[in-house]
Amino acid sequence: MILLCLDANFMTNVTSRFIGGIKPRPLIAYSKTINLNGFCGVRMECWYKKGGALLAEIAETKSGGALLWFLGQMGFAVKMSGVIVYFDPFLNDFTDETGAPRCYGPPFTPEDGIEADYFVCTHDHADHLSLETLLPQARRNPRTRFIVPRPLTGILTGAGIDGSRVSGARAGDVLELDGGLTLTPVAAAHDVYRTDENGDHLCLGYLLRDGETGVYHAGDTVVTPLLVETLRKLKPVNIAILPVNGGDWERSEAGITGNMTAEDAAKLARAIDADLAVPAHYGLLSGNSANPAFFAEAMYRLCPSKKYHIFAPGECFRYGLYG
Ligand SMILES: [Fe+2]
Repeated sequence: MILLCLDANFMTNVTSRFIGGIKPRPLIAYSKTINLNGFCGVRMECWYKKGGALLAEIAETKSGGALLWFLGQMGFAVKMSGVIVYFDPFLNDFTDETGAPRCYGPPFTPEDGIEADYFVCTHDHADHLSLETLLPQARRNPRTRFIVPRPLTGILTGAGIDGSRVSGARAGDVLELDGGLTLTPVAAAHDVYRTDENGDHLCLGYLLRDGETGVYHAGDTVVTPLLVETLRKLKPVNIAILPVNGGDWERSEAGITGNMTAEDAAKLARAIDADLAVPAHYGLLSGNSANPAFFAEAMYRLCPSKKYHIFAPGECFRYGLYG
């Protein structure tokens, strides 16, 4: 059962915790007490499946096409050709400086034993790149390799993950993964394009593809003409996983970087002719959330023939009819 917790007076101040030498950026750039019309979308017992049962399902389920599991925020496990790729795994407890926790806990932690070939992070905000998730996974499973935007590799290696297990992604440079999969990094504007001194993007999305299916994980981004143009060139994008939490002046004042709105996400799905659109980035952090029902409304209004799916956390979706 999903419980909605609406509290217009919720006071929050979200910052990140960190470990390791180089710090992932805080979610909020500076400390300030704010009132963000707190919206905790789902509470503790939201999981469709979790713990060992969910881990076993991810490890053991076999299928053609693509299998997707939603793990909260922008976290997804995607399995294609038997290869398991975790995008933006955020599998640690999290409490901000005021004591406000995640709205719901992780389904499991690396200590539970995660079978994963790749952990892929889109940018260095703590809900997307968390050393409290990555380091235990690196210790527990020597098979897992890590892919992050190239300017961020030092966060992982500086914290002790062997450099041979860390790949730096650059927009447009296709990475070849196990199982014949490819991973194409796509520049993300969160909420503007940011690059380092070498011109390498700090924020990325990724298109994971096998011979049949392309899964685009947007990371955190707004919609730009460049994004639409890039994704159109990379077509087909069968599945588009898109943030829908948007942004506003109040969050901006608090230092929270914005994303596309539900309306823009639906328009992007339409513009790139995604076969299946998936909303994400809501419900986990009360100060920066959205109601995914607005995404459903926009999809139904703007492109009613197009498919979309709103996941329950821990739910598996099987895409494709390849046996
Ligand atoms: Fe985020």
